[in-house]
Amino acid sequence: MQVFREKQPLIQAIQKIKSDEKSLGLVPTMGALHEGHLSLLKTALKETDQVVVSIFVNPTQFDNAEDLEKYPRNLEKDLELLKKISEDIWIFSPNAHELYGDKVLSQNFDFEGLELVMEGAFRNGHFNGVGTVVKHLFEIITPDKAFFGEKDYQQLQIIRKLTEKTGLPVEIVGCPILRENSGLARSSRNERLSTQSREKAAFIYETLQDVNRLFGIESADYITTWVENKFKGNPYLKLEYFEIADSETLKKINTKEKGKQYRAFVAAYADDIRLIDNIALDNSF
Ligand code: PAF
Repeated sequence: MQVFREKQPLIQAIQKIKSDEKSLGLVPTMGALHEGHLSLLKTALKETDQVVVSIFVNPTQFDNAEDLEKYPRNLEKDLELLKKISEDIWIFSPNAHELYGDKVLSQNFDFEGLELVMEGAFRNGHFNGVGTVVKHLFEIITPDKAFFGEKDYQQLQIIRKLTEKTGLPVEIVGCPILRENSGLARSSRNERLSTQSREKAAFIYETLQDVNRLFGIESADYITTWVENKFKGNPYLKLEYFEIADSETLKKINTKEKGKQYRAFVAAYADDIRLIDNIALDNSF
């Protein structure tokens, strides 16, 4: 396993991969790796010849200084976990200057409205930060494929839009959400939950499963009110938003149309930890 702290040696190593006509995969992460990241890595290892895992806590995507400061960082532990999966992967773990240069600033993107809803509405500038860092990573690493989890489904759609708009020749591969035994979606933030909150947070996925059952019989409006009331009755979780939206445009729906794909999205706080989750809805009724 090779760890690159600087981009130049990585770029040289990548040139060799390209001249040998081997394919290159990228798994972008902010570290604090868990089973969800490892499943992205396993998919990347199956689908490409050489995999780069980037580990970089990107300051420009945080709108809350405390959240950035408290974001878990443990490179040694991350490397141990990665080594168990493969000794052949390359790690790119730069500092902010190496990635951004002198100005650690976001570029402004137009993601055609995808950035304005849900996470974008509640986290100011978040997707400009994500778009900026992912664009830098794509330009440095030039992967053939990049692997992202569906837990951050809005982010996944935005990265697809980023590649469409910039023309960067990267295939974006979406990978299914990995869950803890309780059903809670795996996330680096789960580490910050108390044991009790971690158990209580299983309520989020239980609710999403109920939503999927109700989707065949009730309207989106009815279900939204039902979910909001369900959260009001739960003293452990504070709902930030619940939305049923078109899976492609992420626009909130009023009425269901046959043949379209929909998803339900939740953001909620357990203690002061913000958790998100989503589920694909069965629209075969
Ligand atoms: O999903 C994440 O961990 C981050 O948003 C990403 C894609 C690595 C960009 O910093």
